[in-house]
Amino acid sequence: MKILVTGGAGFIGSNFIYYMLEKHPDYKLVCLDALTYAGNLETLEDAMKNENFKFVKGDITDREAVRKLFGEEKFDIVVNFAAESHVDRSIETPEVFLKTNILGTQVLMDASREFEVKRYHQVSTDEVYGDLPLDRPDLFFTEETPIHTSSPYSASKAAADLLVSAYHRTYNFPATISRCSNNYGPFHFPEKLIPLMIANALADKPLPVYGEGLNIRDWLYVEDHCSAIDLIIHNGRVGEVYNIGGHNEKANIDVVKIIIKELGKSEELITYVTDRKGHDMRYAIDPAKIHAELGWLPATKFDDGIKKTIKWYLDNKPWWENIISGEYKEYYKKMYDGR
Ligand code: NAD
Ligand code: DAU
Repeated sequence: MKILVTGGAGFIGSNFIYYMLEKHPDYKLVCLDALTYAGNLETLEDAMKNENFKFVKGDITDREAVRKLFGEEKFDIVVNFAAESHVDRSIETPEVFLKTNILGTQVLMDASREFEVKRYHQVSTDEVYGDLPLDRPDLFFTEETPIHTSSPYSASKAAADLLVSAYHRTYNFPATISRCSNNYGPFHFPEKLIPLMIANALADKPLPVYGEGLNIRDWLYVEDHCSAIDLIIHNGRVGEVYNIGGHNEKANIDVVKIIIKELGKSEELITYVTDRKGHDMRYAIDPAKIHAELGWLPATKFDDGIKKTIKWYLDNKPWWENIISGEYKEYYKKMYDGR
Protein backbone atom coordinates (compact mmCIF):
# COMPACT_ATOMS: atom_id res chain seq x y z
CA MET A 1 0.00 0.00 0.00
CA LYS A 2 1.39 3.39 -0.98
CA ILE A 3 -0.14 6.56 0.46
CA LEU A 4 0.45 10.16 -0.56
CA VAL A 5 0.15 12.53 2.40
CA THR A 6 0.03 16.16 1.30
CA GLY A 7 0.81 18.86 3.85
CA GLY A 8 2.72 16.31 5.95
CA ALA A 9 5.28 18.86 7.19
CA GLY A 10 2.50 20.68 9.05
CA PHE A 11 0.78 19.94 12.34
CA ILE A 12 -1.79 17.22 11.67
CA GLY A 13 -0.17 15.77 8.54
CA SER A 14 3.10 15.09 10.39
CA ASN A 15 1.26 13.48 13.29
CA PHE A 16 -0.60 11.33 10.73
CA ILE A 17 2.70 10.25 9.13
CA TYR A 18 4.10 9.13 12.49
CA TYR A 19 0.83 7.41 13.37
CA MET A 20 0.72 5.49 10.09
CA LEU A 21 4.42 4.51 10.06
CA GLU A 22 3.90 2.90 13.44
CA LYS A 23 0.45 1.41 12.82
CA HIS A 24 1.20 0.04 9.34
CA PRO A 25 4.94 -0.73 9.20
CA ASP A 26 4.54 -2.34 5.78
CA TYR A 27 3.00 0.76 4.11
CA LYS A 28 4.98 3.22 2.02
CA LEU A 29 4.27 6.90 2.68
CA VAL A 30 5.21 9.83 0.47
CA CYS A 31 4.82 13.37 1.81
CA LEU A 32 4.27 16.20 -0.67
CA ASP A 33 4.63 19.60 0.98
CA ALA A 34 5.48 23.07 -0.32
CA LEU A 35 7.14 24.00 3.01
CA THR A 36 5.24 27.25 3.42
CA TYR A 37 5.72 29.18 6.68
CA ALA A 38 3.64 26.40 8.34
CA GLY A 39 5.69 23.48 7.03
CA ASN A 40 8.82 22.42 8.85
CA LEU A 41 11.23 19.69 7.75
CA GLU A 42 12.60 19.38 11.30
CA THR A 43 9.21 17.95 12.22
CA LEU A 44 9.84 15.03 9.86
CA GLU A 45 13.44 14.39 10.96
CA ASP A 46 12.58 11.05 12.59
CA ALA A 47 10.34 9.95 9.72
CA MET A 48 13.23 10.55 7.30
CA LYS A 49 15.12 7.73 9.05
CA ASN A 50 12.39 5.26 8.04
CA GLU A 51 13.01 3.62 4.65
CA ASN A 52 9.25 3.46 4.02
CA PHE A 53 9.02 7.25 4.08
CA LYS A 54 9.93 9.74 1.40
CA PHE A 55 9.65 13.55 1.38
CA VAL A 56 9.01 15.51 -1.81
CA LYS A 57 9.01 19.30 -1.80
CA GLY A 58 6.28 20.57 -4.09
CA ASP A 59 3.14 22.63 -4.41
CA ILE A 60 -0.25 20.93 -4.78
CA THR A 61 -1.32 23.71 -7.17
CA ASP A 62 1.57 22.86 -9.54
CA ARG A 63 -0.30 20.62 -11.99
CA GLU A 64 2.75 19.40 -13.90
CA ALA A 65 4.78 18.55 -10.80
CA VAL A 66 1.80 16.76 -9.26
CA ARG A 67 1.17 14.73 -12.47
CA LYS A 68 4.82 13.76 -12.63
CA LEU A 69 4.83 12.58 -9.02
CA PHE A 70 1.63 10.56 -9.46
CA GLY A 71 3.01 9.00 -12.66
CA GLU A 72 6.21 7.95 -10.90
CA GLU A 73 4.75 6.74 -7.61
CA LYS A 74 1.40 5.09 -8.47
CA PHE A 75 -0.35 5.87 -5.19
CA ASP A 76 -3.13 3.65 -3.84
CA ILE A 77 -4.49 6.32 -1.49
CA VAL A 78 -4.21 10.12 -1.32
CA VAL A 79 -4.86 11.99 1.94
CA ASN A 80 -4.99 15.75 1.42
CA PHE A 81 -3.97 17.74 4.49
CA ALA A 82 -2.21 20.50 2.52
CA ALA A 83 -3.92 23.81 3.13
CA GLU A 84 -3.61 27.32 4.37
CA SER A 85 -5.12 26.70 7.79
CA HIS A 86 -5.14 29.85 9.92
CA VAL A 87 -8.38 31.84 10.09
CA ASP A 88 -6.66 35.12 11.10
CA ARG A 89 -4.31 34.96 8.12
CA SER A 90 -7.27 34.28 5.80
CA ILE A 91 -8.86 37.53 6.98
CA GLU A 92 -5.66 39.44 6.06
CA THR A 93 -4.78 37.63 2.80
CA PRO A 94 -7.61 35.51 1.41
CA GLU A 95 -6.20 34.82 -2.07
CA VAL A 96 -3.64 32.16 -1.21
CA PHE A 97 -6.39 30.32 0.70
CA LEU A 98 -8.51 30.09 -2.42
CA LYS A 99 -5.55 29.00 -4.52
CA THR A 100 -4.19 26.27 -2.25
CA ASN A 101 -7.37 25.04 -0.62
CA ILE A 102 -9.63 24.98 -3.69
CA LEU A 103 -7.44 24.80 -6.80
CA GLY A 104 -4.88 22.57 -5.06
CA THR A 105 -7.67 20.12 -4.22
CA GLN A 106 -8.79 20.11 -7.86
CA VAL A 107 -5.25 19.42 -9.11
CA LEU A 108 -4.87 16.49 -6.68
CA MET A 109 -8.23 15.04 -7.68
CA ASP A 110 -7.46 15.34 -11.40
CA ALA A 111 -4.17 13.50 -10.92
CA SER A 112 -5.90 10.91 -8.73
CA ARG A 113 -8.43 10.26 -11.48
CA GLU A 114 -5.83 10.08 -14.24
CA PHE A 115 -3.62 7.66 -12.31
CA GLU A 116 -6.55 5.66 -10.91
CA VAL A 117 -5.97 6.20 -7.22
CA LYS A 118 -8.26 3.83 -5.29
CA ARG A 119 -9.20 6.29 -2.56
CA TYR A 120 -8.93 10.06 -2.20
CA HIS A 121 -9.51 11.52 1.25
CA GLN A 122 -10.15 15.21 1.82
CA VAL A 123 -9.26 16.49 5.29
CA SER A 124 -11.85 19.16 5.93
CA THR A 125 -13.01 21.02 9.00
CA ASP A 126 -16.08 21.60 11.18
CA GLU A 127 -15.73 25.30 10.30
CA VAL A 128 -17.63 24.63 7.05
CA TYR A 129 -20.81 24.44 9.19
CA GLY A 130 -20.37 27.99 10.51
CA ASP A 131 -21.09 28.30 14.21
CA LEU A 132 -23.65 27.41 16.87
CA PRO A 133 -25.17 29.83 19.41
CA LEU A 134 -23.86 29.76 22.99
CA ASP A 135 -27.38 29.52 24.44
CA ARG A 136 -28.24 26.25 22.64
CA PRO A 137 -25.89 23.63 24.14
CA ASP A 138 -28.27 20.96 22.81
CA LEU A 139 -27.23 21.69 19.19
CA PHE A 140 -24.35 19.90 17.45
CA PHE A 141 -22.94 19.75 13.92
CA THR A 142 -24.04 16.61 12.11
CA GLU A 143 -23.08 15.65 8.56
CA GLU A 144 -26.48 17.05 7.48
CA THR A 145 -25.91 20.51 8.99
CA PRO A 146 -25.97 23.03 6.11
CA ILE A 147 -22.69 24.54 4.94
CA HIS A 148 -22.65 28.12 6.23
CA THR A 149 -19.19 29.63 6.33
CA SER A 150 -17.83 32.68 8.16
CA SER A 151 -14.21 33.30 7.12
CA PRO A 152 -12.31 33.16 3.83
CA TYR A 153 -10.59 30.08 5.30
CA SER A 154 -13.80 28.21 6.00
CA ALA A 155 -15.31 29.32 2.69
CA SER A 156 -12.30 27.92 0.83
CA LYS A 157 -12.52 24.61 2.71
CA ALA A 158 -16.25 24.41 2.01
CA ALA A 159 -15.68 25.11 -1.70
CA ALA A 160 -13.16 22.28 -1.79
CA ASP A 161 -15.64 19.93 -0.09
CA LEU A 162 -18.30 20.77 -2.66
CA LEU A 163 -15.82 20.09 -5.44
CA VAL A 164 -14.91 16.72 -3.93
CA SER A 165 -18.60 15.75 -3.70
CA ALA A 166 -19.14 16.93 -7.27
CA TYR A 167 -16.23 14.79 -8.52
CA HIS A 168 -17.73 11.81 -6.72
CA ARG A 169 -21.15 12.32 -8.24
CA THR A 170 -20.01 13.29 -11.74
CA TYR A 171 -17.04 10.97 -12.25
CA ASN A 172 -17.78 8.33 -9.63
CA PHE A 173 -14.55 9.53 -8.02
CA PRO A 174 -13.74 7.35 -4.95
CA ALA A 175 -13.60 10.11 -2.37
CA THR A 176 -14.35 10.52 1.32
CA ILE A 177 -14.40 13.72 3.39
CA SER A 178 -13.80 14.19 7.10
CA ARG A 179 -14.73 17.28 9.11
CA CYS A 180 -12.88 17.49 12.40
CA SER A 181 -13.04 19.91 15.30
CA ASN A 182 -10.05 21.80 16.76
CA ASN A 183 -6.95 19.66 17.19
CA TYR A 184 -4.17 20.11 19.74
CA GLY A 185 -0.94 18.23 20.44
CA PRO A 186 2.73 18.04 19.35
CA PHE A 187 3.99 20.09 16.37
CA HIS A 188 1.09 22.57 16.54
CA PHE A 189 2.26 25.84 14.98
CA PRO A 190 2.54 28.58 17.64
CA GLU A 191 0.18 30.98 15.85
CA LYS A 192 -2.78 28.86 17.05
CA LEU A 193 -4.44 29.33 20.46
CA ILE A 194 -2.98 26.50 22.57
CA PRO A 195 0.68 26.58 21.46
CA LEU A 196 0.65 30.39 21.35
CA MET A 197 -0.57 30.56 24.95
CA ILE A 198 2.01 27.98 26.08
CA ALA A 199 4.87 29.84 24.36
CA ASN A 200 3.79 33.26 25.63
CA ALA A 201 3.13 32.06 29.17
CA LEU A 202 6.58 30.45 29.35
CA ALA A 203 8.08 33.81 28.33
CA ASP A 204 5.79 35.70 30.76
CA LYS A 205 4.37 37.59 27.77
CA PRO A 206 0.73 38.81 27.54
CA LEU A 207 -1.82 36.13 26.62
CA PRO A 208 -4.02 37.76 23.95
CA VAL A 209 -7.61 36.54 24.37
CA TYR A 210 -9.98 37.68 21.61
CA GLY A 211 -13.17 39.46 22.72
CA GLU A 212 -14.35 38.13 26.07
CA GLY A 213 -12.86 34.67 25.61
CA LEU A 214 -16.30 33.07 25.69
CA ASN A 215 -16.09 31.42 22.27
CA ILE A 216 -16.24 27.65 22.52
CA ARG A 217 -14.07 25.16 20.64
CA ASP A 218 -14.41 21.36 20.69
CA TRP A 219 -10.86 20.11 21.31
CA LEU A 220 -9.54 16.79 20.06
CA TYR A 221 -6.08 15.34 20.70
CA VAL A 222 -4.39 15.12 17.29
CA GLU A 223 -3.69 11.38 17.49
CA ASP A 224 -7.44 10.75 17.75
CA HIS A 225 -7.94 12.66 14.48
CA CYS A 226 -5.25 10.45 12.90
CA SER A 227 -6.91 7.23 14.07
CA ALA A 228 -10.23 8.43 12.64
CA ILE A 229 -8.71 9.14 9.22
CA ASP A 230 -6.96 5.75 9.25
CA LEU A 231 -10.36 4.10 9.77
CA ILE A 232 -12.07 6.19 7.10
CA ILE A 233 -9.50 5.51 4.36
CA HIS A 234 -9.74 1.77 5.00
CA ASN A 235 -13.39 1.22 5.93
CA GLY A 236 -15.28 4.46 5.21
CA ARG A 237 -17.93 4.45 2.51
CA VAL A 238 -17.05 6.25 -0.71
CA GLY A 239 -18.99 9.48 -1.23
CA GLU A 240 -19.57 9.94 2.49
CA VAL A 241 -18.73 12.73 4.92
CA TYR A 242 -17.62 11.81 8.46
CA ASN A 243 -17.60 14.29 11.35
CA ILE A 244 -14.81 13.80 13.90
CA GLY A 245 -14.92 15.16 17.44
CA GLY A 246 -14.83 13.99 21.02
CA HIS A 247 -17.36 16.14 22.93
CA ASN A 248 -14.64 18.25 24.52
CA GLU A 249 -16.14 21.73 24.45
CA LYS A 250 -14.28 24.46 26.29
CA ALA A 251 -14.49 28.26 26.32
CA ASN A 252 -11.22 29.85 25.20
CA ILE A 253 -10.73 31.62 28.51
CA ASP A 254 -10.98 28.31 30.36
CA VAL A 255 -8.37 26.73 28.08
CA VAL A 256 -6.05 29.67 28.74
CA LYS A 257 -6.58 29.40 32.50
CA ILE A 258 -5.81 25.65 32.42
CA ILE A 259 -2.52 26.35 30.62
CA ILE A 260 -1.63 29.10 33.10
CA LYS A 261 -2.31 26.77 36.03
CA GLU A 262 -0.31 23.87 34.55
CA LEU A 263 2.66 26.18 34.00
CA GLY A 264 2.39 27.83 37.42
CA LYS A 265 1.98 31.30 35.90
CA SER A 266 -0.24 34.25 36.86
CA GLU A 267 -3.69 34.99 35.40
CA GLU A 268 -2.53 38.61 35.24
CA LEU A 269 -0.88 37.66 31.96
CA ILE A 270 -4.36 37.43 30.37
CA THR A 271 -4.94 40.41 28.06
CA TYR A 272 -8.29 40.86 26.35
CA VAL A 273 -7.77 42.16 22.81
CA THR A 274 -9.97 43.24 19.89
CA ASP A 275 -12.09 40.35 18.68
CA ARG A 276 -11.48 38.42 15.45
CA LYS A 277 -13.70 39.69 12.60
CA GLY A 278 -16.68 37.37 12.04
CA HIS A 279 -15.57 35.27 15.03
CA ASP A 280 -17.47 31.96 15.23
CA MET A 281 -19.06 31.50 18.67
CA ARG A 282 -19.25 27.76 19.19
CA TYR A 283 -18.18 24.59 17.43
CA ALA A 284 -19.51 21.24 18.62
CA ILE A 285 -19.34 17.97 16.70
CA ASP A 286 -21.79 15.09 16.84
CA PRO A 287 -19.52 12.09 16.10
CA ALA A 288 -22.36 9.51 16.15
CA LYS A 289 -21.90 8.48 12.50
CA ILE A 290 -18.19 7.63 12.64
CA HIS A 291 -18.75 5.85 15.95
CA ALA A 292 -21.67 3.78 14.66
CA GLU A 293 -20.20 2.96 11.23
CA LEU A 294 -16.50 2.64 11.96
CA GLY A 295 -16.36 2.10 15.72
CA TRP A 296 -14.19 5.20 16.23
CA LEU A 297 -13.87 6.69 19.70
CA PRO A 298 -11.29 9.19 20.93
CA ALA A 299 -8.67 7.71 23.27
CA THR A 300 -7.35 10.85 24.98
CA LYS A 301 -9.32 12.97 27.44
CA PHE A 302 -8.64 16.72 27.43
CA ASP A 303 -7.18 16.69 30.97
CA ASP A 304 -4.54 14.17 29.91
CA GLY A 305 -4.05 15.54 26.39
CA ILE A 306 -3.33 19.08 27.53
CA LYS A 307 -0.78 17.82 30.10
CA LYS A 308 0.93 15.71 27.43
CA THR A 309 0.92 18.67 25.04
CA ILE A 310 2.40 21.09 27.57
CA LYS A 311 5.08 18.52 28.43
CA TRP A 312 5.87 18.15 24.72
CA TYR A 313 6.36 21.93 24.36
CA LEU A 314 8.58 21.95 27.45
CA ASP A 315 10.64 19.02 26.12
CA ASN A 316 10.89 20.38 22.59
CA LYS A 317 11.74 24.04 23.07
CA PRO A 318 14.20 24.24 20.14
CA TRP A 319 11.40 23.19 17.73
CA TRP A 320 9.11 26.10 18.53
CA GLU A 321 11.74 28.62 19.65
CA ASN A 322 13.25 28.27 16.20
CA ILE A 323 9.88 29.10 14.63
CA ILE A 324 9.08 32.10 16.80
CA SER A 325 12.52 33.61 16.26
CA GLY A 326 12.13 33.90 12.48
CA GLU A 327 9.57 35.59 10.22
CA TYR A 328 6.94 34.71 12.83
CA LYS A 329 8.12 37.79 14.77
CA GLU A 330 6.91 40.05 11.95
CA TYR A 331 3.59 38.19 11.78
CA TYR A 332 3.08 38.51 15.55
CA LYS A 333 3.81 42.23 15.48
CA LYS A 334 1.39 42.80 12.61
CA MET A 335 -1.44 40.79 14.17
CA TYR A 336 -1.13 41.74 17.83
CA ASP A 337 0.58 45.15 18.23
CA GLY A 338 -1.95 47.77 19.35
CA ARG A 339 -4.83 45.28 19.05
P1 NAD B 1 -0.81 23.48 9.06
O1 NAD B 1 -0.98 24.89 8.65
O2 NAD B 1 -0.08 23.17 10.33
O3 NAD B 1 -0.05 22.68 7.90
C1 NAD B 1 -0.36 22.84 6.55
C2 NAD B 1 0.74 22.17 5.74
O4 NAD B 1 0.38 22.29 4.35
C3 NAD B 1 2.11 22.82 5.90
O5 NAD B 1 3.12 21.84 6.04
C4 NAD B 1 2.30 23.61 4.60
O6 NAD B 1 3.65 23.74 4.20
C5 NAD B 1 1.51 22.74 3.62
N1 NAD B 1 1.04 23.48 2.45
C6 NAD B 1 0.40 24.69 2.44
N2 NAD B 1 0.16 25.06 1.17
C7 NAD B 1 0.64 24.07 0.37
C8 NAD B 1 0.66 23.87 -1.04
N3 NAD B 1 0.16 24.78 -1.87
N4 NAD B 1 1.21 22.73 -1.52
C9 NAD B 1 1.73 21.80 -0.67
N5 NAD B 1 1.76 21.95 0.66
C10 NAD B 1 1.20 23.07 1.18
O7 NAD B 1 -2.27 22.86 9.06
P2 NAD B 1 -2.92 21.78 10.04
O8 NAD B 1 -3.43 22.44 11.23
O9 NAD B 1 -2.01 20.62 10.14
O10 NAD B 1 -4.18 21.34 9.14
C11 NAD B 1 -4.09 20.30 8.20
C12 NAD B 1 -5.43 20.11 7.53
O11 NAD B 1 -6.42 19.79 8.51
C13 NAD B 1 -5.95 21.36 6.82
O12 NAD B 1 -6.55 20.95 5.63
C14 NAD B 1 -6.96 21.94 7.79
O13 NAD B 1 -7.96 22.63 7.09
C15 NAD B 1 -7.51 20.69 8.43
N6 NAD B 1 -8.01 20.83 9.81
C16 NAD B 1 -7.24 21.40 10.78
C17 NAD B 1 -7.71 21.44 12.09
C18 NAD B 1 -6.89 22.02 13.21
O14 NAD B 1 -7.38 22.14 14.34
N7 NAD B 1 -5.64 22.42 12.99
C19 NAD B 1 -8.97 20.90 12.40
C20 NAD B 1 -9.73 20.34 11.37
C21 NAD B 1 -9.23 20.29 10.09
O1 DAU C 1 -12.34 23.84 14.07
C1 DAU C 1 -11.30 23.44 13.26
C2 DAU C 1 -10.39 24.59 12.97
O2 DAU C 1 -9.68 24.89 14.16
C3 DAU C 1 -9.43 24.31 11.83
O3 DAU C 1 -10.16 24.13 10.65
C4 DAU C 1 -8.42 25.45 11.66
O4 DAU C 1 -7.47 25.12 10.67
C5 DAU C 1 -7.72 25.68 12.98
O5 DAU C 1 -6.82 26.76 12.88
C6 DAU C 1 -8.73 25.93 14.09
O6 DAU C 1 -9.41 27.18 13.88
P1 DAU C 1 -9.72 28.21 15.09
O7 DAU C 1 -9.89 29.55 14.54
O8 DAU C 1 -10.78 27.65 15.97
O9 DAU C 1 -8.32 28.06 15.90
P2 DAU C 1 -7.36 29.15 16.58
O10 DAU C 1 -6.34 28.38 17.36
O11 DAU C 1 -6.89 30.18 15.63
O12 DAU C 1 -8.33 29.86 17.62
C7 DAU C 1 -9.03 29.11 18.60
C8 DAU C 1 -9.90 30.08 19.37
O13 DAU C 1 -9.05 30.95 20.15
C9 DAU C 1 -10.74 31.00 18.50
O14 DAU C 1 -11.98 31.22 19.12
C10 DAU C 1 -9.93 32.30 18.46
C11 DAU C 1 -9.25 32.33 19.81
N1 DAU C 1 -7.92 32.98 19.84
C12 DAU C 1 -6.99 32.60 18.93
C13 DAU C 1 -5.74 33.19 18.92
C14 DAU C 1 -4.71 32.79 17.91
C15 DAU C 1 -7.64 33.93 20.82
O15 DAU C 1 -8.48 34.26 21.67
N2 DAU C 1 -6.39 34.51 20.82
C16 DAU C 1 -5.44 34.19 19.91
O16 DAU C 1 -4.33 34.78 19.95
